Amino acid sequence: MNDPLQNQSLTSRNVRIYLDHNATTPPAPVLAARWSELLFVTGNPSSIHNESRMPKAWLRETRQKFANYLNCSPLEIIFNSGASEGNSSILKSAWQLRNQNRNEIIVSQVEHPSVIKTAEHLQAQGAIVHWVPVDRAGLIDLDFIKNKLSEKTLLVSVMFANNETGSIFPIKEIAALAHQAGALMHADCVQLLGKYNLEQHPEKLKIFDLDYATFSAHKFYALAGTGVVFIKKNSPWVPLVHGGGQERGRRGGTENVLGIASLGIVLDELKAAKVHVDEMLRLRNLLESSILARIDGCTITAAEGARLANTSSLVMTNVDGETLLMSLDLKGFSVSTGAACSSGNPEPSPVLLAMGLSRIEAQSSLRISLGWQTTEEQIILFVNTLVEVVAKLREINLTGKDLTHAVS
Ligand SMILES: Cc1ncc(COP(=O)(O)O)c(C=O)c1O
Repeated sequence: MNDPLQNQSLTSRNVRIYLDHNATTPPAPVLAARWSELLFVTGNPSSIHNESRMPKAWLRETRQKFANYLNCSPLEIIFNSGASEGNSSILKSAWQLRNQNRNEIIVSQVEHPSVIKTAEHLQAQGAIVHWVPVDRAGLIDLDFIKNKLSEKTLLVSVMFANNETGSIFPIKEIAALAHQAGALMHADCVQLLGKYNLEQHPEKLKIFDLDYATFSAHKFYALAGTGVVFIKKNSPWVPLVHGGGQERGRRGGTENVLGIASLGIVLDELKAAKVHVDEMLRLRNLLESSILARIDGCTITAAEGARLANTSSLVMTNVDGETLLMSLDLKGFSVSTGAACSSGNPEPSPVLLAMGLSRIEAQSSLRISLGWQTTEEQIILFVNTLVEVVAKLREINLTGKDLTHAVS
């Protein structure tokens, strides 16, 4: 295979290059420009004095903008602390509303831990959970879903796109199947915004016909600690957090006004998402074809199915993923071996194992996720460094030295 970056000889410079945008995105530059304005957002939005006006206005404005972006009503938007809270709330809420007839939940095996762990928690309380397989091509087993759906199904929860491999799942089709069986449909849409061009569907979120969807501000260039739940009108809901009646009684606790305001500002930027998505796709393709041309024994996980434009999950034989990550870190590159929340955990990624990769393959994996600020120069520097580091680690491996020593 030809290396498209063959004649590029840039070498590493003394700068950090961030390629871990599925873990979190850096705050958008526009936030720095408006930082002093944001710092003046004082006052509790639930108060009725003068100071509450500005935070109340930020909440109202962001809610309306988010609703416009998704093409839903502002009443269908709940602010909370992030997608882990959103995912837990939805599953637990559905479970509280179970009845004798409906007590089964269908969840994919590659969901984020906030879904998996909540489903396991409900399983311990008596819920029957059907875990949907996903193969190594990134394809979800639709027949399994069809077979398990029945008049006993309460909720189906399948993510829009996987954070580790970038695999995009057919949630519209799954939602139609769920609804035929009278079940509710939730999709974790955390990796959608900024990485997928929702504008291409004039119906926006309605295209998927979901009852619930979850989002997280720090995954698309706003501040961490703010999440959004889309809850379709008249869908059942039991609050996870009770409190002073915020969010129309659906989520207690004073709202994270600064985080919500940052979200409102960044939402304006999403109008340009298509341009960024196209450019990330171009750079990701360049990255992958160059790596495949220059590094033997390298495969791309889930490359056969639909994928997010920015994500690449690689398996490199004879290389330990953690050691590779540390070596790249020492050279100024931030990437990931799996989900960020499990870094430092020597166990291989449960998502990759669930997809049928062996433990060795999963332990030799690397996730690279591009962002809006990623440049071609960064990709060239990264590939050059990766080629060099992989060669050194394989050499150490061949000479029988300890595999777990990072090279700098
Ligand atoms: C797919 C997915 N869902 C949920 C979450 C959790 O989001 P938060 O950090 O807002 O709790 C993440 C974050 O890693 C994610 O990637």
